[in-house]
Amino acid sequence: MKISVTKLELEQLGADLLALPLNSTELKKGAAKLPAGFDVDPQVLKDFKAEAGEVVLLYGAVGQYSASRVALLGIGEGKSLDDWRKAAAAIASKAVDLKIETLAVDISDAGRAADASGQSTATLVESFVAGSLAGTYRFDRLKSGKLDKKKSSGKPKEISSLVLRVDAAFIDEAEKGAEAGKIIGSCQKMARDLVNLPGNYLQAEDISKAAEESGKKYGYEVTVFNKKEIESLGMGGLLAVNKGSCAPPTFTILDYKPKGKVRAVVALVGKGVTFDSGGISLKPSENMGEMKSDMAGAASVLGAVEAAARLSLPLHIIGLIPATDNMPDGKAQTPGDVITTYSGITVEVGNTDAEGRLILADALTYAAEKYKPDVIIDLATLTGACIVALGYSVAGLFSNNDKLADEIYQAGQQSGEKVWRMPLWDLYDEQIKSDVADVNNTGGRGAGSVTAAKFLEKFIDEHKNWAHIDIAGPSFAPKGGGKVNGGTGFGVSLLVELLKKWS
Ligand code: BES
Ligand code: MN
Ligand code: ZN
Repeated sequence: MKISVTKLELEQLGADLLALPLNSTELKKGAAKLPAGFDVDPQVLKDFKAEAGEVVLLYGAVGQYSASRVALLGIGEGKSLDDWRKAAAAIASKAVDLKIETLAVDISDAGRAADASGQSTATLVESFVAGSLAGTYRFDRLKSGKLDKKKSSGKPKEISSLVLRVDAAFIDEAEKGAEAGKIIGSCQKMARDLVNLPGNYLQAEDISKAAEESGKKYGYEVTVFNKKEIESLGMGGLLAVNKGSCAPPTFTILDYKPKGKVRAVVALVGKGVTFDSGGISLKPSENMGEMKSDMAGAASVLGAVEAAARLSLPLHIIGLIPATDNMPDGKAQTPGDVITTYSGITVEVGNTDAEGRLILADALTYAAEKYKPDVIIDLATLTGACIVALGYSVAGLFSNNDKLADEIYQAGQQSGEKVWRMPLWDLYDEQIKSDVADVNNTGGRGAGSVTAAKFLEKFIDEHKNWAHIDIAGPSFAPKGGGKVNGGTGFGVSLLVELLKKWS
């Protein structure tokens, strides 16, 4: 989709659909501004409440406007970026459903709306563009269309062009924002595609390939350790999880260095379990297919590193992705096994379904030891318990550093990818004691996401600035959630926001 910003008058825009954002507060006061000469049946303005994401299509009321349809687009109170994102996603999604080729949106008001919400115009436009791209997202590459009754409908068509109309005074800022929004939207799409690809299309080596392609295209270095190299490094956690697999594990390192001065060295670690059956501690079969999304942390790390490279952020960013599937087999690790991780710490495998922490253990130690980063953040679909605690929209945040925790919380508020902090008190260590090894990978009943985080903490080599983000809930929208189901790309925007703050 081509995205452009223009200061042309509305009459000259000429689009298949012209969207006019309206503010609910102003609409209530009867002060909502419709373009001059635009008359719409007064009943429409009574029924339409301008809630964020509400869309009303108008035909035949188009008058002097060269678009063939007009949509009233609710932006709620228009004060929060979330409202603008929601509106953008709604109108873009509508345009895809209507198979519209060119969509124009009149955001002439962006400057004023940005002021009112304490944001810059660039940020508001960035959110709008990223939101639009998210709204157009469909995962249809595995559909052949052969069973489609109405041949004409086929696969949903892409919108070819999105035009945003802004006032001349804001055009430069809007262009900057649109550019950033495009990058973020495109990296989110990449992450969503990877999450949606099932296990038979995406194995560990495919994650590595995706990283290599991105690195080549956007000018950062990618190194892939194969099984032999992982063995010589002694990454016992990753190897133990991979034991039941027919596909070799990989350990991928993305290394982005800026041209100029480096403001900070950041390590991002992402869980890359391409399919989690639970292993010998097999999961129940209901909805097990959703475990193709157990590499969402890896996808978000890849998305964030690519975005940082494309935005030329002045940070040295290292992405580390341990990847394998988790399968039952005669050769698979079994409950009760004791393994030795890369750190030398031994682990009793109380449950083979607590595999994420085993592969992350190796990656966290490697990151801390090898790169001595200023900060380490890991993203992982780590526990069902985190979904029980926080639901499907919010990620769990664990950190040994209050300042970092606060920065991540703020980035969540700004990006709309919300996180909520959970405790890391030592009292929880009691639950993961082992009689035979240094630590157990399961903590029994209660506080499952906390004991998982406490486990990870043992492997950061006493680093003082670490955060773990459990994205089990928000990374994947289960069927029937009302939105587009499947991978959400959660984490890309959150991380980019955070990295921008440090730039
Ligand atoms: N990948 C799962 C966690 C998960 C569950 C993510 C549901 C998304 C949706 C993880 O590997 C897992 O199986 N965790 C276990 C840990 C337990 C065995 C200690 C869990 O949450 O039940
Ligand atoms: Mn598991
Ligand atoms: Zn898992």
